[in-house]
Amino acid sequence: MQDVPLARTPDFYSYPDCPPSEVVDSRDRVVVRWSDGVSLDAYGLWLFENQMGNVTVEERTRESMIDPADFPDPILIASVSLAANGDVVVVFDNGRISAYHSGWLRHVAEGQHRPPALLPELEVWTADRFREPQTHHGPEVLADDDAMLAFLSDVTRFGLARLEGLATTKELLADLGGRIGALRDTNFGVTWPVSVDLKPTSTANTSLPLPPHSDLPTRETPPGFQLLHCLVNTCGGGLSTMADGYAVVQYLQDHEPEHYEALTTLNWVFFNRSPQHDHRWSGPIIDATTPGAPLTLRAFHPVRGFPDMPIADQPRAYAALRAFSQLGGSDAFQIRYPFRPGDLVMFDNRRILHGRTAIDANGGRRELHGTYIDHDEVYSRLRVLTRHRPTRTLGPN
Ligand SMILES: [Fe+2]
Repeated sequence: MQDVPLARTPDFYSYPDCPPSEVVDSRDRVVVRWSDGVSLDAYGLWLFENQMGNVTVEERTRESMIDPADFPDPILIASVSLAANGDVVVVFDNGRISAYHSGWLRHVAEGQHRPPALLPELEVWTADRFREPQTHHGPEVLADDDAMLAFLSDVTRFGLARLEGLATTKELLADLGGRIGALRDTNFGVTWPVSVDLKPTSTANTSLPLPPHSDLPTRETPPGFQLLHCLVNTCGGGLSTMADGYAVVQYLQDHEPEHYEALTTLNWVFFNRSPQHDHRWSGPIIDATTPGAPLTLRAFHPVRGFPDMPIADQPRAYAALRAFSQLGGSDAFQIRYPFRPGDLVMFDNRRILHGRTAIDANGGRRELHGTYIDHDEVYSRLRVLTRHRPTRTLGPN
């Protein structure tokens, strides 16, 4: 016997009822209309595979149980009506009767089921918007869901945000990851040091300046976010630099279309090499070709190995690359600020061009600790943190 009420929707959200004003059966679909003009065309097979109560949706997982090979053909709707609470009641030709939550149908009609719907809107910024990242109190973010939500919302909105006042221990990144989602392992390890007193394994571990770049363009899908935690810093120089890739891309699109075209269409082979590794991927510097997909910048000169284009295209490819890098490091787009022990900056590795000014290591020590976490993990945590908030009012009530 069931000791909790059966789920009314194939997910883990609570929706207010949102009774439609009209439902119309068109044999293979149902048209649901609300009084404010919003409507939903619900195809019969989609309704069929979303029947609750262990009919076609499994009660515990809220996932479909039906193999597409077993879809009835044809699926026809005998009748449709509205229940007293506003649920849409469908009678299928096979006699099965199923009810669909009006608020759940409404959330589909409003597009709230789509991936970006529950996330903060992006805000494109340049250096006149702020001089340092939006900053949150680290210990509070580690301890409190509302503080974590505010932090991750800023990270998603601006592409970066900072925590301050954190412990300067190497375990901290794993603790923070444990509150967000799985950290992404790479050939540099799950977490990795960035330290000027190490034997260099990459340009990051020297005192050289790091021009605006994104990490691991050598991968089919470069890491979504990067976290850098400052443990020790007694060196001069070494200011962190950040620029919003969306702003740079927008500027190129509007003012330098020939460069924009070269940067979005001409591919380069990126190449991470070591005695044990050989990671390669070929792609454009600005990878914005899939509609709806997040921007992916591929920009890191130490691992940009080969032009992957005819020689005739290389002069404009190099010219465009020079323009892109100059913009990303310019005063108009780039912010520069000190990295203090106990600070952690989290930024979108595919959107933000990050770097640092040269380090004066004369007698000083600078130890950072870094990790990656993919967009999927962060966006999932954000959605779950907003799941029980009464912020979503579904019209027309
Ligand atoms: Fe980097």
